[in-house]
Amino acid sequence: MLGIRPATGAGQVADYDTARSSIAAAGGKAHERTLTRGGVRPTALWSHGVLSHVPGRPDATGAVPHVPVLLAEVLEALNAQSGGTFLDGTFGAGGYTRGILGANRQNRVVGVDRDPDAIAAGETLVAWARGRLQLCPGRFGDLDRIAETCGAAPLDGVVLDIGVSSMQLDQAERGFSFRTDGPLDMRMERSGPSAADLVNETEEGALADIIYQYGEERRSRAIARAIVERRRRGRIETTGELADLVAKHVRGEPGVNPATRTFQALRIAVNDELGQLTAALEAAERVLKPGARLAIVTFHSLEDRIVKQFMQERTRRVPRGSRHVPDLTHSEPATFTAITKGPIAAGAEELAANPRARSAKLRVAERTDSPAPTVSTDVSGKSRRGGR
Ligand SMILES: C[S@@+](CC[C@H](N)C(=O)[O-])C[C@H]1O[C@@H](n2cnc3c(N)ncnc32)[C@H](O)[C@@H]1O
Repeated sequence: MLGIRPATGAGQVADYDTARSSIAAAGGKAHERTLTRGGVRPTALWSHGVLSHVPGRPDATGAVPHVPVLLAEVLEALNAQSGGTFLDGTFGAGGYTRGILGANRQNRVVGVDRDPDAIAAGETLVAWARGRLQLCPGRFGDLDRIAETCGAAPLDGVVLDIGVSSMQLDQAERGFSFRTDGPLDMRMERSGPSAADLVNETEEGALADIIYQYGEERRSRAIARAIVERRRRGRIETTGELADLVAKHVRGEPGVNPATRTFQALRIAVNDELGQLTAALEAAERVLKPGARLAIVTFHSLEDRIVKQFMQERTRRVPRGSRHVPDLTHSEPATFTAITKGPIAAGAEELAANPRARSAKLRVAERTDSPAPTVSTDVSGKSRRGGR
């Protein structure tokens, strides 16, 4: 078992903006907890060049770069020091990928991201890795097909760090943030319907449902009503307009922007984030070798619930699945074994250096040699027979 530091459980809020703004203020001390296995010390990660900057401190340009959350725990969870071929399904700024490549000189990584900017920015790392890193634009819901296309299947490990990156939040024109005014966009892929399309064209009841289900926002109906009234005067086109409108109807918790939950809901809907996560778990099940590891970091309860239910069901720790995870029949053996009893959370020192880590939960499971089930789930959460 990994050294388990249980996550705190209920009440996770994906308040990335608030966390991000506190990173610089908190200073840059990375936590130094010694792990029970693997022996990777987080402070060693940057001092040996695995991280390109001191976590939490501004880089040479003055910006605070994306700080990978639970990096040492993820490397240990993946058994990255033992060597193998890994898929980082959320490449982002390449923090996990750098860590995996640095953990063993034989390691190979397939880095996947649906954001073309992340893939383009990763080219420097590709050159640095000298043939050990392949970057693939795409969605992690297709990770098994991507690994096969790259000649990397079967894999020794898959890691996902769900959500948006600091780079995406920092660029006002990407429209993810309520802190800086920008076009109401939120498309990780820069294509398809935007958040503005959703906000301006969705019928009131459906809009309220999205805000309630994906944002867990109790004031969803009032917000949807206000949006529909406001759009009679013209389209809502900017993050600032929407944030101001929401703030008139939501009191918010201390230190948390009232628009946090609404923005989370729209981002999840625009990018079909929960459908992608469900598809990715099943894709990983198909493409991991026996003994390979699946490590998933989530930042809010909706995502964590899907991962938790998948792992419970596939390790046969619960008799039946959820809406998102179809049942294995009782004749089918477990496809995963549990590596951690519960989620792993960041320690005090990492939290001090990176407040974004406060809602992070890492869950880990190890693939058995049982075949993947032939029941699969489409991205809307409905089960279908026959697999791919
Ligand atoms: C939290 S960041 C990952 C940061 C990364 N672990 C690091 O250390 O730099 C999440 C990244 O995942 C990407 N992403 C989100 N959903 C995705 C999906 N369905 N398929 C592929 N990439 C996705 C986002 O574009 C973003 O770059």
